[in-house]
Amino acid sequence: MKKIGIAVTDLNDWTGIALGNAVRHYGMQPVKFSFSEATSDISSGKIYSGKIDLTVLDAVVVRDLGPATHNDVSFRFDILCQLKELGIVVVNSPDSIARAANKYVSSFLFRRNGIPTPETTVTNNLDEALAALSSFGRAVVKPVFGYKGIGVECVRNSESGVQKLKELFKNNRLIYMQEFIPNPGRDIRVFVVNGNVAGSIYRVAPPGGWINNLSQGGSAKPCVLTDEQERLALEASGVIGTVYAGVDIIEGDRDYVIEINGTPSGKGIFEACRVDVTMSIVEYLKGLT
Ligand SMILES: Nc1ncnc2c1ncn2[C@@H]1O[C@H](COP(=O)(O)OP(=O)(O)O)[C@@H](O)[C@H]1O
Ligand SMILES: [Mg+2]
Repeated sequence: MKKIGIAVTDLNDWTGIALGNAVRHYGMQPVKFSFSEATSDISSGKIYSGKIDLTVLDAVVVRDLGPATHNDVSFRFDILCQLKELGIVVVNSPDSIARAANKYVSSFLFRRNGIPTPETTVTNNLDEALAALSSFGRAVVKPVFGYKGIGVECVRNSESGVQKLKELFKNNRLIYMQEFIPNPGRDIRVFVVNGNVAGSIYRVAPPGGWINNLSQGGSAKPCVLTDEQERLALEASGVIGTVYAGVDIIEGDRDYVIEINGTPSGKGIFEACRVDVTMSIVEYLKGLT
């Protein structure tokens, strides 16, 4: 029986549980492990997590890489690459996870491939950041490797806004700043699996808020995509190279792709639409292994 590793930290995570069920549904054996316990033994060439030998798996689905410091992230990413070199199918591929996790790289690739994305400046220079703020008027500053809306800040071109930006610069030395796109108080999360749209939801910010992430109090509502939104989501996941992805689209004067998540949760779309994206992910794997 094929053994499908599921990299997940929280054993109660909805997506991790659903992936396990989907793997069983397709007649394969789920093997859950956490990257928080990863070990690579150079002498024996074994790579394992707890008691689980990762090198005997047929495939690995990455639900999450676990909470990590800078060192940990690079170690876990290296392990993914090494598993792939050993012939194990890794989904999403390490390269695509890295591209999706890095907002600078994603923005660059969207722009280069003609995918509409908000005006963005990424800089190590405070004067450039201030100039961008004055041209945007209202801006969104984000951690380059952020997720779940954590650390996403709105900054205005006012005295207090300039102060805030200087403060952010002092703490990070690297500013990723984007024009704020006026929107209907919601954004769109599209799930793309293997070049097809598996489903989509609106994420509506809580009253008074403007950050729509479900983990920041946003709520999920069913959403029917326009042809243009569907095309953008497929193109964006294509340039990042993910097998499965959550593509964030915001509706401004036109549709813009904000970012791609290479390890998205399937819970919100299941609760809002009863669509289980993990079944599509594992169906794809079943076809490969
Ligand atoms: N340029 C923008 N204009 C307006 N709202 C934005 C913009 N960028 C992000 N947001 C809001 O902030 C949320 C989080 O931003 P996002 O880039 O998706 O980062 P994260 O990786 O933390 O989810 C988005 O879902 C959206 O609600
Ligand atoms: Mg997002």
